Amino acid sequence: MSIQTISLAPISEKGGGSALITNKDYQNKGLFVQTYGCQMNEYDSQKIGELLQQSHGLNLVDDTESAEVAIVNTCSVREKAQEKVFTLLGRWKKWKEKKAGRIICVGGCVASQEGELIRRRAPFVDIVFGPQTLHRLPQLLEQTIKGKQSHLKIPLSMDISFPEVEKFDRLPIPVANGVSAFVSIMEGCSKYCSFCVVPYTRGEEFSRPYLSVMEEVRELSRQGVREVTLLGQNVNAYIAEFEDGSPCDFSTLLTEVATIEHIDRLRFTTSHPMEMTNDIIQCFQSIPQLANQLHLPVQSGSDSILNRMKRGYTALEYKNIIRRLREIKPDIHLSSDFIVGFPGETEEDFMQTYRLVEEVKFSRSFSFIYSARPGTPASALPDDVPLETKKQRLYRLQELLAQQTEEIENQLVGTTQAVLIERLSRKSDNQVAGRADNNVVVNFSADTDLIGQFVEVKITERLTNSFRGVLL
Ligand code: SAM
Ligand code: F3S
Repeated sequence: MSIQTISLAPISEKGGGSALITNKDYQNKGLFVQTYGCQMNEYDSQKIGELLQQSHGLNLVDDTESAEVAIVNTCSVREKAQEKVFTLLGRWKKWKEKKAGRIICVGGCVASQEGELIRRRAPFVDIVFGPQTLHRLPQLLEQTIKGKQSHLKIPLSMDISFPEVEKFDRLPIPVANGVSAFVSIMEGCSKYCSFCVVPYTRGEEFSRPYLSVMEEVRELSRQGVREVTLLGQNVNAYIAEFEDGSPCDFSTLLTEVATIEHIDRLRFTTSHPMEMTNDIIQCFQSIPQLANQLHLPVQSGSDSILNRMKRGYTALEYKNIIRRLREIKPDIHLSSDFIVGFPGETEEDFMQTYRLVEEVKFSRSFSFIYSARPGTPASALPDDVPLETKKQRLYRLQELLAQQTEEIENQLVGTTQAVLIERLSRKSDNQVAGRADNNVVVNFSADTDLIGQFVEVKITERLTNSFRGVLL
């Protein structure tokens, strides 16, 4: 992987964009951001919108036609996601040629890992930035705009370094976009699962300072946010310090965030089973605001595959975590991630995954065919499971997972759920939509004045991805 850093003037103030004297020619022009990948990318895209609004006065728009600047925030976890980026860039090349002054930026994990490839395959791209340098985007953009205006042929600006904690120092003041918000509490990952590119694209784990997390949540609460999801590749590894230098781990952070006024529901994602400590499990008992839901990726039910994936736990240890969680919250909604067709996966290995699913019972899950990623240790292993076998295993696993989703969700019909009303429903003009504690979406008739409130809703019907209910 090649990493190239351009030198930039230091930014002295919090909220990177504001210290920069910027060109006014892009004021009130459109910014289009296309996001691929995980919730971390969605969060980063939101921050990009806030940053460029504050630095250059750009306004988010829904399509490239009304935009002057187009940004794709990329994901390289699987090969397919990466290829999508180059297809999109092909379309954007034509868009850029139609009007002078248009700017194309590529951010996220593909940018981080394949900066040089983008330079070669898509030389019309103006800016490449990594997940850890998005706060420097205002300067990169300024440099590009100045270059365009001076009619010099300026090369692509690229900054895919890992300046770590600086990113959290320079994020703009958050702007709530509804009553539920994501808050990033850590970046990167140091688990180095043998199949995964994240440690190489996002760097090693580092935690956001405790006060910075608390400030962001307090600010969001002042803006009307009632539910917060703490985000990171592996939030359980969070470790920071209080002002007096004493340690603040993830369970302590959860307890602290729960004390913030008006934050009445808390979620977090993603957790790693290896660091699902007793203290974190106990939080489900001691923190009433903690939602009745957990995403805990297992990847495989075979110990030999887990070992080769370098996951650091056995299937039995995973099941023990679930047992302890269910002792506290018997009806907790569990979701997970699975990979089928990892190098060397036998039919028996796959059946161990299948049996683990039968035993644990998951509400919703994500399952993928193994995709060899360049630079990862697993990519050196022979990718020896035939594609047809991988597809069949994925199909069998997804059938079982879908059956479990249906069984678990059917049991919700007739129950009463506490729903936070988030917005107008997309299904019907006269309805609102919100999420129950276990994260399912419920649509029902209610006064729009109730948006932002927790209400009791009786679930009446299950649809494919949501429920219907009646306000009590
Ligand atoms: N941090 C999370 C965790 O603890 O597992 C997940 C991060 S990763 C971005 C999301 C999911 O993508 C993983 O849980 C895994 O199932 C899947 N994934 C990652 N690398 C993959 C690969 N090379 N092939 C197929 N799926 C992959
Ligand atoms: Fe990837 Fe494993 Fe970290 S799946 S994000 S290296 S926990």
